[in-house]
Amino acid sequence: MLPNFDAGAFDLAEDAPAKINLALHVTGQRADGYHLLDMLVTFAGHGDRLGFRKADGDSFSLSGPFAPGLAAEASGGSNLVLKARDLLRDAASVQGFETFPIHIHLEKNLPIASGIGGGSADAAATLRGLQRIWGIALPLETIAAIALRIGADVPMCLASRPLIARGIGEDIEPLPRFPSFAMVLGNPLVGVSTPDVFRHLPSRDNPPFAFAAQERRDHAGWISLIEGLRNDLEPPARGLCGEIGELSRLMKAQGALLVRMSGSGATCFGLFNTLGQAEAAAASLHSATPGWYFQATETIAGGE
Ligand code: C5P
Repeated sequence: MLPNFDAGAFDLAEDAPAKINLALHVTGQRADGYHLLDMLVTFAGHGDRLGFRKADGDSFSLSGPFAPGLAAEASGGSNLVLKARDLLRDAASVQGFETFPIHIHLEKNLPIASGIGGGSADAAATLRGLQRIWGIALPLETIAAIALRIGADVPMCLASRPLIARGIGEDIEPLPRFPSFAMVLGNPLVGVSTPDVFRHLPSRDNPPFAFAAQERRDHAGWISLIEGLRNDLEPPARGLCGEIGELSRLMKAQGALLVRMSGSGATCFGLFNTLGQAEAAAASLHSATPGWYFQATETIAGGE
């Protein structure tokens, strides 16, 4: 379940679930330097939350454990939530829609710049929420283009369902038969620079995925498929941030079925058979290393 949030204080609330790269293969590089990726992605039942309220003027407020890390960029107007609001309003006005001033509140529960797409999830939740509260329905291609302009992970966060993403993240194929996983998310709260991780890749030409989105597998079958895949960004990220190796060892020692890094790190996830096991593991990890972030969750299952 998502953390407690006073949805009653807003006209509308939206969840911004954490994005988990169960696997990420770097398969090439575009002429502009961006890397081509094959990503197996799911979303946690834990994340940030946004509240929207009709107001006299536009405003933005923050709360939650990781809000202090965002305060400076929010006051400078560079937060992805504000970028999403402004781009959507511009596109709406081009299409002749009226948009009233809005107060947006962000409860920041996810660590910042940590490989689980917090900022992208917030931007996607803003696009979903504002379309609803403003009562506008822009063409899907317009929304997809705005999402991609904000960031490569925003289109997949708009879906917030298990999927395969290719290209730099814009080519999305849903996984209708994908199971829910019990999981622990862990982060040493040390920042890792995404461009640095990409720069230290030993190879940019790794094999793409060789399975179909429609495949029928049970829970164990998907885990063994994931075990056979990789996150190609994990070796360079481990080289840049020694805590990732330590985090992975600690999570494996808790009996996780599989431990892997998400995105460009430093967040790692561990898969468990039950939510109870994941919660017990998160509690022991938290007492062993109280300064680090640990969160047990169940991921969102695929559905038609
Ligand atoms: O998506 P994000 O803004 O986090 O990307 C930060 C940087 O990571 C990009 O400017 C680029 O250097 C690198 N990157 C890349 N290929 C991708 C995504 C990011 O090279 N597909």
